[in-house]
Formats: sequence, structure tokens, C-alpha cells
Amino acid sequence: MNYPYQIKNLEAYHKAYQESVEQPEAFWANIAEHFTWKKKWDSVLNWSFSPYKVEWFKGAQLNITENCLDRHLEKNGDRPAIVWEANSPEQAALTLTYRQLHFKVMQFANVLKNNGVKKGDRICIYMGMVPELSIATLACARIGAIHSVIFGGFSAQAIADRLEDAKAEFIITCDGAYRGAKEIPLKDVIDDALIGNHSIKRVIVYTRTHAPLSMIKGRDVWWEDEIKKVESDGNPYFPAETMDAEDILFILYTSGSTGKPKGVVHTTAGYMVWTNYTFVNVFQYEPGQIHFCTADIGWITGHSYILYGPLSAGATSLMFEGIPTYPDASRFWDIVEKHKVNILYTAPTAIRSLMGFGLEPLQNKNLCSLKVLGTVGEPINEEAWHWYDENVGKKNSPIVDTWWQTETGGILISNIANVTPGVPSFATLPMPGVQPCLVDEKGIEIEGNNANGNLCIKFPWPGILRSTYGDHERCEKTYFSIYKNYYFTGDGCLRDAKGNYRITGRVDDVLNVSGHRIGTAEVENAINCHTGVIESAVVGYPHDIKGQGIYAYVIFSGIHENEEHTRKDISLTVSKIIGAIAKPDKIQFVSALPKTRSGKIMRRILRKIAEGDTSTLGDTTTLLDPTVVEILIEGRL
Ligand code: WTA
Repeated sequence: MNYPYQIKNLEAYHKAYQESVEQPEAFWANIAEHFTWKKKWDSVLNWSFSPYKVEWFKGAQLNITENCLDRHLEKNGDRPAIVWEANSPEQAALTLTYRQLHFKVMQFANVLKNNGVKKGDRICIYMGMVPELSIATLACARIGAIHSVIFGGFSAQAIADRLEDAKAEFIITCDGAYRGAKEIPLKDVIDDALIGNHSIKRVIVYTRTHAPLSMIKGRDVWWEDEIKKVESDGNPYFPAETMDAEDILFILYTSGSTGKPKGVVHTTAGYMVWTNYTFVNVFQYEPGQIHFCTADIGWITGHSYILYGPLSAGATSLMFEGIPTYPDASRFWDIVEKHKVNILYTAPTAIRSLMGFGLEPLQNKNLCSLKVLGTVGEPINEEAWHWYDENVGKKNSPIVDTWWQTETGGILISNIANVTPGVPSFATLPMPGVQPCLVDEKGIEIEGNNANGNLCIKFPWPGILRSTYGDHERCEKTYFSIYKNYYFTGDGCLRDAKGNYRITGRVDDVLNVSGHRIGTAEVENAINCHTGVIESAVVGYPHDIKGQGIYAYVIFSGIHENEEHTRKDISLTVSKIIGAIAKPDKIQFVSALPKTRSGKIMRRILRKIAEGDTSTLGDTTTLLDPTVVEILIEGRL
């Protein structure tokens, strides 16, 4: 497969960009021609931001798995689609060619069908990073069921909330997952999530760790047994369900500034075109190369750049079960050497954590296969950028700093490897089809370069979210009402003299902890569930490795045993309600929070104190009791 729409030089980028703005419909129709459709579209784009409704390729029919699998079989059926590296380096790696993956996806689609799954049903997937996670996800797409993958670090309560919100009836999970030295009891967590649940009809359990499990009659079945049943049927074929362009492909939950995570909805055709286009262009993928995206499929990065982007491009995608520091801090480099990885796409937090181990883990590792490096998930600090450039890329591989979000489906702002120049800590230029702008507090667009404001997008691109599941109004309110006629990203941003964009971080109450999005309100709700907590306020503070750490101010009714013990109790409560990723790094017990006369917490002050920057607290005269501030500063951790 070659990619006629791959941008090969700077001039071609400018030309593509201009066309995408001047004639977006013709531009995207030309690109969409390169995909497999059961029926072509009647119209390329219908849209309005107010009220919010976007439709790409309306009237078209397709199945994304025909684009990710079937269409590669004839010429590239024996090319590796997925190369899987296990958590333990002792376990042999596994390769699934396009033909094998196609077979397994159809086989599992048959399992789903036998278990009563129909087009449009919601299926929750809660698995470790095993190849079967990819198979299960693609099988849902094959049968037309809506997948909702939940990251393996979320707690039973978080899963239960998501199951209810998605009205899911099926779950696919594993007995357990290996992550570094840990074994995570996934099925146990699912069992807890299902206490009192009567809507889940079936739980399909894949065996990975052989942990002893409770298996409930009539509800729980083993993956392996179900496969045997379809094998004995003797017909592995499973025709790809016909999907409309705007049929939902998946729901993925993400945090916002309210306490309840939202189910971001992506549909079929636009998402496919967008992930493919951005994959092929940003990384300048060439057929035969090995692409290693280190994200988990439980996050959008894994959806778009382990599965749908690479597979729709006939690429080889490396999937890694473990973590960068197990069995030691040279694991990524061992994998690069062993599999001759060409593209490495990871997160700044992983780079910073590996920097902490010095250069020793890199010594004698052959990294010369690397052609392109990428980062995603949070702003990359210059120090980490240079370390990555010098020690991993040997100053020979461009680093693409890709800015995007769960809601955007794929990369919106990034340099293009070897085509547009990279600038340390800048995402740089928009992809064709993306029209960014900066607005001030009042929503007025700030024109010209050297500007600083809130990042909005003016025009829909094919991968934009279509809704938030079950609550379209929430989608409209969150993204399209704050600044009229713009999609609001929630990020602050500056544009330099050359028009390059630099994302400075969230401007709403969302934290970015190790590249994971966590809402402060969500953490507060969880802390407030602890019996002794009267009130809490959560803010972010700069953290050397995680990017941001979680700082909680807690008003407590009576310390139990001692402060340290109570802190642990509170952390455990947060782990139970959300998951360990949301545990506060610091908990300061306070007697009062800084509130205005109308009762609003002044987070600005709390943020400054947590950051240790108390010289510029700003105006505190509107506080009900300004003396509170002094006490908070004294008690700072
Ligand atoms: C942040 C992850 C700076 C940003 C794909 C965004 C970034 C949030 C970058 C989305 C980047 C992501 N530079 N910040 N290259 N990439 N972000 O939904 O704040 O998990 O709004 O999607 O991560 O996180 P999400």
C-alpha cells in the first residue's frame, strides 16, 4: 500500500493546508477515495457548531475492519499487523500477520454473535495489553457493536459508573494482567463492579495469568471455550456488518471539569479517515516499518495509533504489555533493538522517568533503526525534549510533538517528520483540515503572531467527537458554548512570531498527571466519600516526573490515629472510587478553605500555595476570611 496523500515536503504541506481550508469538502473527498466503501457518501460534510451537529461522509456505508484488515489481504496478507512483546522479556514475542489477525477477529466476532451481541450493543472491554485486546476491539467493530475500552487501572466503582452510563450489556475481560512486577486482578475488579448489576448479560474472560477466579453460571464464560465452539462450527468467516458513516464506532470515557466522566463518542468514517491521514503524515510511515506506540489501548492514543491509524494503513504496530522500567529501565531500548523499531511514540512522563536512570540503560543498545520519535499527552519540557533528541534519536530523528485530545480522535497540531520543522516544546503547526485560533477571556479571537490565549478550533475536521454518550447537551455545553461558534479545547496556548503553536496546559479544572487526564472535581468527590472528610479542594502542582501532581486540601472532622494513617485511608478511598492513578500526592489537612463571600473556593490561591509561589497571591480582599491564607501557607507540604 502506498499513500498518495502523504505530504512529502514543506511546499506540499502548505498546498494541502490551503486546499483543506479553501475547499474542505473536495480535499477530504479526494482522500476518502483511498478507502474501501460499501457505498460512497451523498455529502462530504454537514455541520453546525450551534446547535452542535457534525456529519462527515453522510450516506456512505463501510466497515472499518474491512479497511483495517480485509483490504490488505490480497497484497500484504503475510505482513505483520501486530507484533506483541510480553511483559516478561523471557516470554517469546508474538506476531500476527494481517491474515492471522483477520481470521482471529472474524472468529471472535462469531463468538460475540453466539453470545447474543448485535449491532449497536455496548461492550465494555477491560483487559491488559494482550493481543486479544486488539482482537476483541476489532471484533466489536466487525459486528457493529460499540466498544468502550476501560483502562486497566480504573477501579470497580469507576467501571460500574461507566457501565451504567453506556448501558452496556457485555464485558470482555481477562483473569488478570501483568504490568511490571505486578499482577492486576482484572476479573476480580469486574466482579466487584457487577455487584448488584442486573444489566450485564455476559462476561467473556480471556486467560492470561491463570489466577483463581469466581465464574458465575449463566453470566461468565471463558474466551477459550467460546473459541472452541466456533471452531467446531467450521466456518470462520464473518462478514463485516454494514455501518453508516455516522454510526458510533466507540465510546471512550474521559475526565472533564465536572465530577462525572463523559463518554466521548466517535463515529466510523470520519474517525477512520482522520486517524489514517494523521498517522501516515505525521510519522511519515513507510510500508514495512515497525511503529511502536507505547500507550495503553485503554486511552485514545492506543485506539488511534496502535489500532485504527496503523492498521488502516497496513502498517506493523508493536504492542507492548509491560512498562518502561521492567525488568529494568532499559526495556524500551531492548524492545527497539530486538524488533528494529522505526517509529517510537511515547509520553513525556515516560521520558522523564527514564531520564532519572541516567544514560547507563542506553549503553550498548542499538537504536539505529529509529527514524522518527514522537511525544503525546502533555507538554514536553525542553530538558526532556533534548534528552530524547540526543540520547534516543542521536540528533538524527525528528521528534514530532503531537497535540490532540480524546475528543479530537487524532493529532491536530504537530510537526510532520522531516517535512515541517520541529521546535523544542512546540507542537508547531496545524494538520491540514485544522483551523486553530486563540481567543481571549471574552471569546474574541486574538489575531496575529506572538499571541497568547485559549485554544479553539474554528472548523470541524473528520475526527471531531460527535457527542457525549446519552447527553448531547453536555457535549454542546462543554465544547461549543463557552466560546460561541468555536470548539473549545480547554487548553491554554501561545503562538510565536512564526505562527508555531505551543500548548501551555489546561486552563480548566482538569489535571494532567503522567499524561492521564483527571478532573479535580472527580478527585474531590472521591475524597469527600471518606467518612471523616467534611470538605476538600484539589489542585495541580508541578511534579518532576508526572508533569503535574495532585495536591489535596482536606477539612477533616477528627484525625484517626495519626495524620499519616488518615492520609493513607483517604488515598485508599480515592483508589477504590476512581483508581490508583488519581491518588493525591500530597494531602494537607486544613481547618478552612479560602472562600469568597458567595462561598466560592478561590482555587487560584490554592494553586499558588501548592506550587510554592506565595509571593504573588494577588487580591485576597474578596475573601470571607483572609487570615485563612496565612494558615494554609504555614501548613504547606
Ligand atoms: C494534553 C491525549 C501539550 C492537553 C492524546 C490536552 C498535550 C490533553 C499534548 C488531552 C502535547 C496532549 N503537548 N499538551 N503534545 N498532547 N496534551 O484526552 O492538555 O488524554 O488537552 O488525549 O493532554 O488528553 P487526552
